[in-house]
Amino acid sequence: MQQETPTKRELAASLSRAREATLRLIGPVDDEQLVAQVSPIMSPLVWDLAHIGWFEELWLVQRVGGDESSDERLDDVYDAFRNPRGERSRLPILTPPEARAYLESVRRHALRVLERVALDHADPLLRDGYVYGLVLQHELQHQETMLQTLQLSGVAYATPPHDALRMPPKPEDLLVPADSFTLGTNEQPWAYDNEQPGHVVELPAFSIERHPVTNERFAEFVEDGGYRKRRYWSDDGWQWLREERVEAPLYWQRGGGGWVRRRFGRSEPVPPAEPVQHISFYEAEAVAAWTGKRLPTEAEWEKAAQGANSDGDGNLGRESFGPLPVARRATSLVGCDCMLGDVWEWTSSAFTGYPGFTAFPYAEYSEVFFGDEHRVLRGGSWATDPLVARVTFRNWDYPQRRQLFSGVRLAADA
Ligand SMILES: [Fe+2]
Repeated sequence: MQQETPTKRELAASLSRAREATLRLIGPVDDEQLVAQVSPIMSPLVWDLAHIGWFEELWLVQRVGGDESSDERLDDVYDAFRNPRGERSRLPILTPPEARAYLESVRRHALRVLERVALDHADPLLRDGYVYGLVLQHELQHQETMLQTLQLSGVAYATPPHDALRMPPKPEDLLVPADSFTLGTNEQPWAYDNEQPGHVVELPAFSIERHPVTNERFAEFVEDGGYRKRRYWSDDGWQWLREERVEAPLYWQRGGGGWVRRRFGRSEPVPPAEPVQHISFYEAEAVAAWTGKRLPTEAEWEKAAQGANSDGDGNLGRESFGPLPVARRATSLVGCDCMLGDVWEWTSSAFTGYPGFTAFPYAEYSEVFFGDEHRVLRGGSWATDPLVARVTFRNWDYPQRRQLFSGVRLAADA
């Protein structure tokens, strides 16, 4: 996370780094796969691609530079709020070569604007390069979304093999004494509106596990009939289970010698020591109930995560193409491991505004999602960029979603 005011050269370098990563991601993807609507809950990849450029043009060219849009018709197609994901392939979207050319021309324009703009401006959009942080994080977050689509579509990558032999350590509870602490932030210059304002919260003592729930433990839950026992499921969760006929995490299948999973086009044994991923909020709740524990609230999660650092050793930044066996990594002050990276962790909290919330720079970033519909996930995944992963970052999604790189860490009252 950016702490000091970045220079223009640093901002330009970060923008190029993000763009190179976007293009690397779609390197092995052919045009047919780029335009495919893989699932109603995901956009065609080529939509994400041009949308990244559209967002950059909106903020870095039009808002910052005061320059005209290159083509106002793009607003209808690439504004996420006008078009649900499942309908995007039917829109007059740019073709893959057009999308690439559009990205390039917007970037050239944005860099010309960057040269002439004053970053020490009193305008909160420009202070500390905020709007550049917004556009950068947007592109990096779309890379994670695109990885969800890529995993769904089965595009193969040359990914490092995962360790299916290592066994996980026993679950371990860490006690967090009652304390007051600041939830959210007033200091991080590139934090989103929903992470602010930082405010003091009183937390009773609680315990939280040192590691996220591993595949080995989740498989025990499955073998114990966890998906068939009503008592582990909430009403909504049970209804979801009945409708979807889910029996294991997404991408798991029974193989001859145990569970096998599909990961970026290949099939492999499920590695016992890795955090479970691709589970919904309902499955997270159910495995917690099976152990006699519960999900942490997001305040508990954030308290437990303090001190974990994204420029440290977290499994972040897409290269591993999956979680790694739990280990001493991205460790927090209270001793929780794997707090940043590996898998997003579902919390019990609904996504709401902190006391004193103010929408900035636009209400459609966070505010329109506040309410009971979404649950908060914390901590980032292996597919999250270190620039985005931070202890205060709040992700949110529908409780039934599991194409996310989502897992769970268990907590309990002390
Ligand atoms: Fe977006």
